Amino acid sequence: MTMNETKILFRPWDKNDFPHVYDILKKSWDSAYSSFVPKDDLDFYLNQNYNLSKLEELYNKHSVFCFVAEVDGKAVGWLKLSISDEEKKNYLSSIYVLPDFQKLKIGQRLMTIAFTKAKENGFPDIWIGVMEKNIPALEWYKKIGFVFVENLPFKMGKTTISHLIGVKEILD
Ligand SMILES: CC(C)(COP(=O)(O)OP(=O)(O)OC[C@H]1O[C@@H](n2cnc3c(N)ncnc32)[C@H](O)[C@@H]1OP(=O)(O)O)[C@@H](O)C(=O)NCCC(=O)NCCS
Repeated sequence: MTMNETKILFRPWDKNDFPHVYDILKKSWDSAYSSFVPKDDLDFYLNQNYNLSKLEELYNKHSVFCFVAEVDGKAVGWLKLSISDEEKKNYLSSIYVLPDFQKLKIGQRLMTIAFTKAKENGFPDIWIGVMEKNIPALEWYKKIGFVFVENLPFKMGKTTISHLIGVKEILD
């Protein structure tokens, strides 16, 4: 499939997207993380943090902005931006594209939306976190220009994940 053949719509998410977002996370996590995080831990973390009522909570938060990429009426990519008031930082806290739709520049388009929204919200930069072993995503962020400045491990079920924090300035 190429971008020319596929009509991709980018828009803020709505409540009908919740099951599709869950599906995007499940499939993209399995494909990106299952070689280094046990499946039980992935499922535990997914069901704990992204079940339908947690997605509803996110939807209602004023500090969270989510967008989807839609193909044939169905979300295939999801972006979540979260503003941390304490740290005064703007995090791109999730960016996931269904495996069958990766490398079609959907991630790149979602990233552009993230930069536009962050700028609109008055931030000078965007912060991200990526698992150290998620080499394709790490390389992708580096190619975009993110610089990794810190390692902040976190727990997913029983597994501790080495997690790199990166930042990129928003240019005019
Ligand atoms: C990482 C991810 C969001 C990127 O989105 P995508 O739609 O697949 O990527 P794009 O098609 O927008 O990539 C755009 C550019 O990056 C390049 N690229 C894609 N994957 C790459 C990789 N692994 N390493 C280097 N470059 C890469 C593409 O070739 C393209 O380059 P070009 O503009 O020179 O042609 C997506 O692949 C994904 O969801 N991966 C699995 C989940 C994940 O790891 N998410 C990030 C969690 S922190």
